[in-house]
Formats: sequence, structure tokens, C-alpha cells
Amino acid sequence: MNRFEDKVVLITGGASGLGHAAALQVAKEGGKLSLVDLNEDGLQEVKQQIESEAPNFGEIITIAADVSDEEATKNYVNKTVEKFGRIDGFFNNAGIEGKQNLTEDYGSDEFRKVVDINLNGVFYGMKYVLEVMKKQESGSIVNTASVGGIRGVGNQSGYAASKHGVVGLTRNSGVEYGQFNVSIKAIAPGAILTPMVEGSLKQMAGDNWEEAGKEFVSVNPMKRFGKPEEVGHLVAFLLSDQATFINGAVIPIDGGQSYKY
Ligand SMILES: NC(=O)c1ccc[n+]([C@@H]2O[C@H](COP(=O)([O-])OP(=O)(O)OC[C@H]3O[C@@H](n4cnc5c(N)ncnc54)[C@H](O)[C@@H]3O)[C@@H](O)[C@H]2O)c1
Repeated sequence: MNRFEDKVVLITGGASGLGHAAALQVAKEGGKLSLVDLNEDGLQEVKQQIESEAPNFGEIITIAADVSDEEATKNYVNKTVEKFGRIDGFFNNAGIEGKQNLTEDYGSDEFRKVVDINLNGVFYGMKYVLEVMKKQESGSIVNTASVGGIRGVGNQSGYAASKHGVVGLTRNSGVEYGQFNVSIKAIAPGAILTPMVEGSLKQMAGDNWEEAGKEFVSVNPMKRFGKPEEVGHLVAFLLSDQATFINGAVIPIDGGQSYKY
């Protein structure tokens, strides 16, 4: 399949985990990529991997930026349009997990920080990319929510508030922009084994993190972590011309976890 030939895809959080997996899939299918992340070294590593493993890819630029900074967001969108002239797909994905704590202990600074990145960052990204897509009269946006954005998980006030907010933004803007031939969807991943999840297992269990991981997924109907590439495939489909009539929808990718009583 070459669903991204002549297509421009912008990805935030492209240096790691789900953003990295989606970038690799889009590159394998001939896409032009603009990858944004705070982590400049990580961006360079992903670029090198794409150059060696996805020889088909169109072109790639990397932009170091903090998605919670509105000016930086305006700048990464402008740079992408200056380079490629358009944006066909936007994976609005960068995020952090934040601390695990009871609500009373969560901390107002931590709450602000998590909401700033996970929710305000997603809003800024949509604000500037939608301007471009509305003018082109085409485009697809995939926002990264979470199972924690559609269910109560516990011990993650900031994360839950931010991800429920991402779901709300997706539904609201999907209703607004369908008339301009722009579709907006969200994914709600469960436990996917990315550096973020590995990091929080290590926080909880130190050297025993792999055992703790098994315990963690034992309640999942499929009794395993999801793989980043499974999410990469879903995101590539949602950003492609095969998914243009999916709009305002929130799609779980969690092994059935969010449907379990
Ligand atoms: N892995 C999971 O199980 C899981 C589950 C549900 C939702 N998610 C969501 O998926 C998204 C990606 O997470 P991941 O698991 O790939 O994590 P990750 O830590 O592997 O990757 C996230 C990337 O985002 C970047 N980033 C963080 N803050 C940033 C900022 N302010 N500006 C720019 N870049 C920033 C990081 O540098 C990193 O490269 C996040 O929004 C996360 O909440 C992940």
C-alpha cells in the first residue's frame, strides 16, 4: 500500500512511542513528514531510522518545539506549510502521563502542567492546522486521547481531565469542520508498551518492572500490552483517504479493556 504518496503528514511527539510508530508507517507508505518533539536527539534517531528502513518515504523535516507553547505551535505549523505547501494529515499526539496520586495529593502545579501539554497543546495544534485544512478543503486530524479519557481509571486527575478534554475537543470540532471536508477523530489507547509506560512501571517497581507489567495487563481481556506498531497502523488508516467519513469518533485500541465491567 502507498496511501501517503504526495501526502504531507505532521506528527507531534514524533521522537518516541506512538508518534514514532505512526511516522514509520506513514514513511513506509511514501509520505512526506514533519516531525515535532521536545527531544531533538530522539527526532534525529527517528529520521535516521526512516531513512534506512523506509526508503520509499517522500521527504522529512524535524522541528524541536514545545506543544504547550502557542507561539511554538504556530511556528511548527508555519514551517511545515513553508516546506511542503499543505498539511493532509495531523497526528496531534504529544503528551505526558504526569504523577500517579490521589486527587487531594495531586498538586495544582502538576495538574496545570499536564493540562497545559495534553489539552492546551492539542487545542493549539488544532487551532493552527484547522486554518490550513479549511483553506485546502481537505484534511484529517487524529488526536491522542486515552482509555483514561473515556473511563475513570483513578490516581490521575490531570491526565483524566486532559484526555476527557481531548475527547470533547474532537467531538466539538468534528461537528464544526465536517462541512469543510475535514475530519477529526481521536484514538483512545489502553496500555501500549512505549517508553512512557516503561518509565512509569520502573517508577512503580524499579528492577521488577517487567513482572509489574505482567500484573498490570493481567486484567486486560487479551492479557498483554498493545504494541506501538498496532497503534501506528490504526493512525495511518485514520489519516488516509480510506477514513474520510469517520468524523468526531473516538476509537479505543485497548484489547477490549474499556468495555470490561
Ligand atoms: N503508551 C500508552 O499506553 C498510552 C496510552 C494512552 C494514551 N497515550 C498517549 O499517547 C501519546 C504518546 O505517548 P507515548 O506512549 O508514545 O509516550 P512517549 O513518552 O514514548 O512519547 C511521547 C513523546 O512526546 C514528547 N513530548 C512530551 N511533551 C512534549 C511537549 N511539551 N512538546 C513536544 N513534545 C513533547 C516526548 O518527548 C516524547 O517523545 C500521549 O499523548 C499519551 O498520553 C499513551
